[in-house]
Amino acid sequence: MSFTQMEMPPRPTVFDFHGVSMIKMFTDNWDNIQNFKARPDDIVIATYPKAGTTWVSYILDLLYFGHLGPERQTSIPVHERVPFLELYVPPLLIGTDLADNLPTTPRLIKTHLPVQLLPKSFWEQGCRIVYVARNAKDNAVSYFHFDRMNNAQPEAGDWSTFLQEFMEGKRVFGSWYDHVNGWWEKKQTYSNLHYMFYEDLIEDCGREIDRLCSFLGLSPSVEEKENVRTSVTFDSMKQNKMTNYSTIPIMDHTVSPFMRKGKVGDWKNHFTVAQNEQFDEDYKRKMKNPDLKFRYEI
Ligand code: A3P
Repeated sequence: MSFTQMEMPPRPTVFDFHGVSMIKMFTDNWDNIQNFKARPDDIVIATYPKAGTTWVSYILDLLYFGHLGPERQTSIPVHERVPFLELYVPPLLIGTDLADNLPTTPRLIKTHLPVQLLPKSFWEQGCRIVYVARNAKDNAVSYFHFDRMNNAQPEAGDWSTFLQEFMEGKRVFGSWYDHVNGWWEKKQTYSNLHYMFYEDLIEDCGREIDRLCSFLGLSPSVEEKENVRTSVTFDSMKQNKMTNYSTIPIMDHTVSPFMRKGKVGDWKNHFTVAQNEQFDEDYKRKMKNPDLKFRYEI
């Protein structure tokens, strides 16, 4: 993107799109998105925004392409290596074109779409899908700070308004509850779906890399795995210009850095006691499946 401070476009507003709160930047290319031709070896990284998409994208990129050497690692930002399918900021950032033009195989493709909106070709081709979920409270906090710093997103507003909207599914990509539940249900019938949790990655990243490898049929050497593990720590990724989004001018890292805290439990610094009680009440009503459990501290 090449917006200067002067040309900064106004913040977008959300609208209802097939029952999901969206902004034009993710719906303007809809026909091409829905007709996207997947390849059987494509790997999809699906998440609700702020669940650890960049972290897992970088892990997968290193597992598949780490051997291509430092040139790639220091010159191509991770958001170009792993295109964002529904992103549409013409002429430069068109997710479907970026995916079609990827020079590497397999293609790693990121999406925030809820399960019912994923282009059908991915299902038809039996593509592997990695879904990353994060507990609702930390996810909401991270999303709040992201919407403060990313001028391409709707205004964040104040925290209590944001939280209310999050609970009502009015932030971009809609309801967190529907998103995590929808993908969880899909896992019961679609075997090529690996459902993982941000909290597990924080607890033991090496173990989660092993699980990813076994899902993807990869067998890196001990050294390669160790190299991935040390490259994807919060501190390394925060320092790394290819993973910290500092190359995207529409994000104002002085408001809040993209690589902000990287913790489980930061919600405790944001939720008031009353907000927490109200959130928990509402949560119980929306999260009925006892098999899908999130950790709010570790
Ligand atoms: P916080 O705002 O809580 O710090 P996404 O990539 O889906 O937009 O998610 C961004 C969130 O993941 C941010 O959370 C970011 O700090 C966190 N994150 C990214 N890389 C991480 C890493 N290596 N370790 C821990 N957290 C990471």
